[in-house]
Amino acid sequence: GRALRVGIAGLGTVGVGVVRLLAENRDILLQHCPWPIEVTAVSARDRRKNRDVDLSKFDWCDDPVALADHPKVDVVVEVIGGSGGAAKALIERAIAKGKHVVTANKALLAEHGTALARSAEQAGVALAYEAAVAGGIPIIKSMREGLAANRIEHVYGILNGTCNYILTQMRETGREFADVLAEAQQLGYAEADPSFDVDGIDAAHKLSILTAVAFGCEVDFAGIKISGIRNVSAMDIEYASELGYRIKLLGLSRLIDQGAERRIEQRVHACMVPQNALIAKVDGVYNAVVTQGNFVGQNVAIGRGAGQGPTASAVVSDLMDIARGRILPAFSAPADTLKKIPAAPEGSH
Ligand code: NDP
Ligand code: HSE
Repeated sequence: GRALRVGIAGLGTVGVGVVRLLAENRDILLQHCPWPIEVTAVSARDRRKNRDVDLSKFDWCDDPVALADHPKVDVVVEVIGGSGGAAKALIERAIAKGKHVVTANKALLAEHGTALARSAEQAGVALAYEAAVAGGIPIIKSMREGLAANRIEHVYGILNGTCNYILTQMRETGREFADVLAEAQQLGYAEADPSFDVDGIDAAHKLSILTAVAFGCEVDFAGIKISGIRNVSAMDIEYASELGYRIKLLGLSRLIDQGAERRIEQRVHACMVPQNALIAKVDGVYNAVVTQGNFVGQNVAIGRGAGQGPTASAVVSDLMDIARGRILPAFSAPADTLKKIPAAPEGSH
């Protein structure tokens, strides 16, 4: 069959992971999807950087936006990052040129997800982002497919691998926050600006996307009440343990339906979770997403939430969907039917 030709923008942790996975698991991919997925072009800032992966067969573009115009690119993988700049320009250009887009960029989707979804739908191209939420956990597919028959009542979870790694290491080893953060950066878990992780912003980016998928509403990052883990001390963690709790940074979103008041509440903050709860046992870089559907009941998905392998796995699963011709609207409802989330009444937070 005809190959799906891929241009990758960004050759850091995630981009290199995608190149590796496509090469190393080629046979497995063909087993599930008979249309080969071939990288044809790549872009990053520094052409001379050694990336420990063979790029010699790919065309190099100094300007990532040029990937959208490249004649041998059918789908653009945007793994640069950032809610504007080159990432946004590339995605907009790719959609305008009728090319599919796969991205891991939750910051961009949190800010511009609804508008980009509308443009992608109008252009008839995919805007796929499995890797943007909860790393390797296939939660977007799960919510739009396996759980799609349900009215979702709430969704919550551990959505940031860096924070969960830090909180786990602080509890298990008593090490200082800053040391463990440096290690998470070394392991490729953290955002380019790690304050996005530790201040809860990254978890909120992901929550805003999950909420849109779960409830069929517009992405509303600005409506999220956010706090992070910067002020959680080793002593807090120890006291919580003595009392039978674990401290976890959670993102929570629920439908409040009380007669006249019908809205969605979204928040991100550190929570005391009873030690025997399933989610309390999710440690290290692992994420967990708990959904409550009106027919299925509770569902829990657990998996690695950051790092090269899990993120590449999610990106390539989106590429496989596109190769198979499975082009769904970006959210669970077509973008022109998405509703704004009503603002919370004064003083309700
Ligand atoms: P890295 O910082 O490791 O890599 C970013 C890459 O983008 C680098 O190769 C860099 O080039 C390139 N780049 C930056 N600016 C430009 C530009 N203007 N033009 C061309 N290339 C550019 O980031 P990650 O791989 O960790 O993350 C990429 C995206 O994936 C982000 O949106 C992130 O939020 C998301 N993500 C990351 C996960 C993770 O675990 N790391 C998990 C899930 C999502 P150069 O190498 O030359 O400097
Ligand atoms: N920095 C993010 C995290 C990467 O630690 O969860 C995965 O989205």
